[in-house]
Amino acid sequence: MKGKFPSKIKFITFDFKQLHSTIVEQLQARADFLPANTAAYRLLDGPSDGLDKGSCLEVYANDKIKAWLWQTQETPTSLEIKHFTKVAQQHKVSLYLKVLGAKNLSKSPQHICGAEITKPFLVTESGRSYWIDFASGYSQGIFLDQRDNRNKVADLVKEQLAHQAEVKVLNTFAYTAGFSISAALAGATTTTLDLSNTYLEWSKRNFEANELALSEHYFLKGDTLEWLPKFAKKQRLFDGIILDPPSFSRNKGKVFKVQDHYRALIEQALACLAPKGWVLCSTNYLGFNAQQFKSMAKKACHQQGLRANLSAAQLPQDFASSNHLKVIFIQAL
Ligand SMILES: C[S@@+](CC[C@H](N)C(=O)[O-])C[C@H]1O[C@@H](n2cnc3c(N)ncnc32)[C@H](O)[C@@H]1O
Repeated sequence: MKGKFPSKIKFITFDFKQLHSTIVEQLQARADFLPANTAAYRLLDGPSDGLDKGSCLEVYANDKIKAWLWQTQETPTSLEIKHFTKVAQQHKVSLYLKVLGAKNLSKSPQHICGAEITKPFLVTESGRSYWIDFASGYSQGIFLDQRDNRNKVADLVKEQLAHQAEVKVLNTFAYTAGFSISAALAGATTTTLDLSNTYLEWSKRNFEANELALSEHYFLKGDTLEWLPKFAKKQRLFDGIILDPPSFSRNKGKVFKVQDHYRALIEQALACLAPKGWVLCSTNYLGFNAQQFKSMAKKACHQQGLRANLSAAQLPQDFASSNHLKVIFIQAL
């Protein structure tokens, strides 16, 4: 174990026995509801599983590696570390800790016990493969809360392919291309757009891990806010568009803030949407509730003169204590 933890005693929300029995119970519960071939998921989520609000335990596993990523709002006490270490040792897993919050944004998770994981490793989710890296800083390669939406995107592409020869999907703010992978495996031609070269390279490795030919898909380094108007001008239209921006982004002095600019972003996306296409709009921004987010998407459709069905998505079942993610699917009629 690296580093030192404060030994201050604070309110303990669980004891060892409780933690152990909750983990055994939740492992069983997840085996019953997770999609087949899913070895990356949330095992404990906040107060409903005996943890503090905003804390969680996630599993990332394959045949050789079994890792638990424990995420907390505050640095845990030494007693909490002791309880978690004991349970992790019983389950023979590598335990890593990530203390959440703005001041830790550049830090990778801290190794607590078990075998150290020094290289990226593959996990599967709904049968798709993704590279995970515990040394890559704050984010490990996949946002598990989007699992059901990745599956929904695959379903939408398959439905479209029943009526048309080609389905083009644009994944903006793509990160490691989680949505592109589900769309591409369902048969879409994808365009993966991100500001970061590092994430585009990671995206390509994810394509290769799924035996998808890079030459049949597009990878674009650039600013979504610049590319959407370019696509619209050239009438390069997409049958599906994914919008999942960070709450705040800055590029070449230009700032994107969800609360000020999301509606315009949706309008820009709608300007390059093919007939009967769909747009997935997603945000973690806590200043909107689901209703406000939906009403904003509705106004954007109205502004663009688009008749559409709007439906909200729920978080996956393993996120029992969470309500951070708001997702609306716009389906053009
Ligand atoms: C919240 S992550 C997106 C997560 C992703 N949708 C997923 O499900 O895995 C935000 C991503 O947006 C990228 N980004 C930030 N500002 C951008 C911009 N203006 N244009 C394109 N990408 C941007 C970042 O590099 C990062 O990869």
